[in-house]
Amino acid sequence: MKNIVILISGRGSNMEALIAARDAGDLPINIAAVISNRPEAEGLETAVRAGITAHFINHKGFAGRESFDAALAECIDQFSPDLVVLAGFMRILTEGFVRHYEGRLVNIHPSLLPSFSGLHTHQRALEEGVRIHGCTVHFVTPTLDHGPVIIQAAVPVLDGDTEATLAARVLQQEHKVYPQAVRWFVDGRLTLENGRVRLAADQADAAVMISPEIR
Ligand code: GAR
Repeated sequence: MKNIVILISGRGSNMEALIAARDAGDLPINIAAVISNRPEAEGLETAVRAGITAHFINHKGFAGRESFDAALAECIDQFSPDLVVLAGFMRILTEGFVRHYEGRLVNIHPSLLPSFSGLHTHQRALEEGVRIHGCTVHFVTPTLDHGPVIIQAAVPVLDGDTEATLAARVLQQEHKVYPQAVRWFVDGRLTLENGRVRLAADQADAAVMISPEIR
């Protein structure tokens, strides 16, 4: 059974999707720990309720990114993770941290990268008038919201959408693609080789999810 450490900063619904997949017998993982950089993150309580070891390391208690990331890595490494999963972890990571976890650090971002990296992705998608939006799971590189893409899900932008309705449509897909990506990884069907994603050939079609609203 592979060891996973999940990093969160807030609500933790992507973390919950992973817990639910595990509990349904769909995802053979040991969630060794959930770690937040914000003590008040709602997801910490959810993790504790699910019987998962939960820690917080308040980034505000550190002089800079290097010292915070060093403390974070020390905490993570106690759990010997095969994979570190960023699930709404809203921190820019140092290059040293990212290199330490090369090939075993993944992130989910609420846009079809490379469009709309950063914050307020749904509002920006509405302002740009794009017709297709979505989410991306990728291996992490030192550049924010950037890296080899594992899986993407596309949703339509509908007339009358608000930031909230669009975010909800994307989030539904996030909860599908993240367990899928983690499943591939723990099954040994997904690796990072020379900076490129290698996915088992029979799974390639599944790396694009199109929501049913797209005709
Ligand atoms: C999710 O929409 C995730 O894609 C996004 O934060 C949200 C966290 O929600 N992540 C990023 O924007 C990373 N750049 P959650 O706490 O309910 O999983």
